[in-house]
Amino acid sequence: MERKLMQIQDRALEELAGAGSLEDLNEIRVRYLGKKGDLTGVLRGMGALSAEERPRIGQVANQVKERIEDRLNEITANLKDHLTRQRLAAETLDITLPGTAFNFGRLHPLTVITRQIEDIFLGLGFSIAEGPEVELDYYNFEALNLPKDHPARDMQDTFFITPEVLLRTHTSPVQVRTMERTAPAVPVKVIVPGKVYRRDDDATHSPMFHQVEGLAVDRRITMADLRGMLQVFAEQMFGPETRTRFRASYFPFTEPSAEVDISCTMCGGKGCRTCSHTGWLEILGCGMVHPRVLEMSGYNSQEVTGFAFGMGVERITMLKYGLDDLRLLFDNDLRFLEQF
Ligand code: PHE
Repeated sequence: MERKLMQIQDRALEELAGAGSLEDLNEIRVRYLGKKGDLTGVLRGMGALSAEERPRIGQVANQVKERIEDRLNEITANLKDHLTRQRLAAETLDITLPGTAFNFGRLHPLTVITRQIEDIFLGLGFSIAEGPEVELDYYNFEALNLPKDHPARDMQDTFFITPEVLLRTHTSPVQVRTMERTAPAVPVKVIVPGKVYRRDDDATHSPMFHQVEGLAVDRRITMADLRGMLQVFAEQMFGPETRTRFRASYFPFTEPSAEVDISCTMCGGKGCRTCSHTGWLEILGCGMVHPRVLEMSGYNSQEVTGFAFGMGVERITMLKYGLDDLRLLFDNDLRFLEQF
């Protein structure tokens, strides 16, 4: 029996040495080690052996099996390795050829600036609110203290959809919507970025443009809070050397109202073409929320006060990037947009 085992071993090793493919190797495995294989056959016959012989033959049989297995695994691994090398050598990959260029997208300059404005006010404790672009006359005008016959309505060349529905001319209606939702609770501290629409079209006006509104309502809010907040904003947006000034103005929904200028970003205030030789650039309108607006929105104007401001994102973008024509922002010309 021992001889028979040795013969099987020799034959198996010989065949292994001659195997040329993975199929050959697999066939050898089945033939010698498989359930119906030669070695298994011999082991089945062990039942006929005497009790003294059985352990010894068993040991030899196991050694034979191990030897064949080891050799088989070794040769299989070598062959696989060899085949991989062959495949890699056949693949001609020239890593010096130019690759396929991938065009990365980028943010539109108006998006970049809007996000900068948002970041500054988020840092000052404001959160972001939004409202509809198709708006009711009530929110766009009426609740902002602009009744139907108010002459200030003419300033905002409105796109009407029906007599009561329009495209919002400013983000201020979201002041009212936010206060209605929150009243009588305080504080309210929101900014409102968004699209607005006016019938206007030239180098500095587009029928669709963007504003960021700001609104704070609380007990004992004063104009000094507004002034301080906007000074911080101007410094963070345009640089720490930026100065601001308030000029008296008029909006029906704020009292008192002011227009805010910053020292010219081009000349630093000395006077140049950009600032029409005044040294100042207008960047936003603001004021203390009119008591009537507070009352209409559900607040007691004896108990709370508030400030509001509204700025044009296109204007700020043009100042930041030194653009002289706002239409560049909407032409979708990649040669322009790729510069940012
Ligand atoms: N809504 C005004 C405009 O579009 C700007 C503004 C907002 C003024 C808030 C005062 C307070 O011109």
